[in-house]
Amino acid sequence: MKSGSGPGLGGRRRILYGRRRGRRLRPGREALLAELLPRLAIDVPSEADVPLDPGALFAGGFVPEDVWLEIGFGAGEHLAAQALNHPEIGFIGCEPYINGVASLLREIERHGLDNIRVLMDDARALIERLEPASIGRVDILFPDPWPKKRHHKRRFILPANLDALASVLKDEGEFRFASDDAGYVRWTLEHVLDHADFVWLARGPRSWRQRPAGSIPTRYEGKAADRDRACVFLGFQRRRRPQTPSSR
Ligand SMILES: C[S@@+](CC[C@H](N)C(=O)[O-])C[C@H]1O[C@@H](n2cnc3c(N)ncnc32)[C@H](O)[C@@H]1O
Repeated sequence: MKSGSGPGLGGRRRILYGRRRGRRLRPGREALLAELLPRLAIDVPSEADVPLDPGALFAGGFVPEDVWLEIGFGAGEHLAAQALNHPEIGFIGCEPYINGVASLLREIERHGLDNIRVLMDDARALIERLEPASIGRVDILFPDPWPKKRHHKRRFILPANLDALASVLKDEGEFRFASDDAGYVRWTLEHVLDHADFVWLARGPRSWRQRPAGSIPTRYEGKAADRDRACVFLGFQRRRRPQTPSSR
């Protein structure tokens, strides 16, 4: 399914592929969307010249040590577990699928989490507006692989999105990617290694066959395991920016 997600930078219309809505929601989830989401939802500034400070999204006196971003969090189990294990970090989750957002809200309520903010939309709308060098880590876990060649341009890992991620990541910030689709893994390696701002943190096959320590399997990792599909976990680091006279 195809839907618009607003004008992108340069005025070009952004198109989002994939579902925004699934099965009818239970009344409890509808209530969470009506009552809890407005308190956690990110209001993306419309003017391009007002960069968004992600640390300022967290109210109530909570000043996060760092802000981490998960793109396409699905049902939100990984995001919620990270937020629970790292109360000092502020988390931003982007997910256009309303049923997934409702599942995350359920986890937030269940654990009383106050360090997550949510964009129920295309992550690109937010990334384009974030302050440069403001995010310490980005996770993209089991993104839609779009395996048909004619659909490869729908993949999230594309040069323009890598430019945007490189811009918002801090020096030495981490970018984590996971997939069980060998074609998408190869594609990601090629595109990220081709990008001047990233280095691959691989230390040998064990490092890409094992989920990073401290993170839990997502729903899609579970589906891959049920089908005996090997999962690959790639970790990249954003290179340090060259020092300019004014940054010294
Ligand atoms: C295959 S699912 C994986 C979900 C979850 N990460 C997991 O591992 O279970 C991919 C998710 O990415 C979301 N997605 C696709 N394009 C996106 C975008 N541009 N911004 C944010 N989320 C996106 C989809 O709605 C979908 O929920």
